[in-house]
Amino acid sequence: MNSLADSTASEAPRISRSRLETDPISIRKTGHYRQEYVHDFVQKWDELIDWDARASSEGGFFIEKLRENGARQVLDVATGTGFHSVRLLEAGFEVVSADGSAEMLAKAFENGRRRGHVLRTVQADWRWLNRDIHQKFDAVICLGNSFTHLFSERDRRKALAEFYAVLRHDGVLILDQRNYDALMDNGYSSTHTYYYCGDEVEVKPVHVDDGLARFQYRFPDGSEFHLNMFPLRAEYTRRLMEEVGFQRSETFGDFQETYRADDPDFIVHVAHKAYVERSGGA
Ligand SMILES: C[S@@+](CC[C@H](N)C(=O)[O-])C[C@H]1O[C@@H](n2cnc3c(N)ncnc32)[C@H](O)[C@@H]1O
Repeated sequence: MNSLADSTASEAPRISRSRLETDPISIRKTGHYRQEYVHDFVQKWDELIDWDARASSEGGFFIEKLRENGARQVLDVATGTGFHSVRLLEAGFEVVSADGSAEMLAKAFENGRRRGHVLRTVQADWRWLNRDIHQKFDAVICLGNSFTHLFSERDRRKALAEFYAVLRHDGVLILDQRNYDALMDNGYSSTHTYYYCGDEVEVKPVHVDDGLARFQYRFPDGSEFHLNMFPLRAEYTRRLMEEVGFQRSETFGDFQETYRADDPDFIVHVAHKAYVERSGGA
């Protein structure tokens, strides 16, 4: 595996500062996440998510799903500042913490150290994940509305195929997303009960169309950051997962099995790799 210190090949060309300022909604590029998670935003990320509030709001959901599926070794592909990697280590899982952003991994490592853990970090972009990760896992987690950073279907399919390949034959992928169906069909509402639990931070979309949801994050000190994301419809994500080979998937709304389509802020997909015999199949 590459260590955090290694540089990432295939760096996306940087988008000029003037275009970021004058025409931000034209920026719909998968590799742009590295420019979005700048040092100052990364330092503030934990203020946005509030680890304690997030831990109590999601409870044992992910830990239970992983245990139900017999997972022991977990690859966190969107480590961010390390919230789930640390929780899973504390729950007794073996975790490798990957992310395409060196800035995020450095913060995750520091957060881990403060809680008495040494995170095994790997800088890896999902589109060529298996170039940098040479081990198989029982589970891959891609959490915190991260998959939304991929802007082309080709990249989404490639990333899912890479997640599939790094899993053992009966592994599971747990991937979540914002409820973009509700956002696009009915406009924005959020209880801020899950994920972004910091109550001093204002989160809202400033632009939404079929190909872009641009969110603004405003902090109490007046600083503002933005993320450009692709608005994934839940059924579409599910279809892609099945098309790359996942056999079966379950969907949860704000961690509940039954929910009304418009209600949840976040959707969680649990996709299974183990082959399922279908009647009429060859
Ligand atoms: C919204 S943050 C979520 C972080 C964390 N999972 C959480 O819930 O707090 C998204 C993370 O995905 C990473 N990311 C986005 N696109 C990526 C890609 N193509 N390859 C690897 N990491 C990527 C970003 O660097 C960032 O750390």
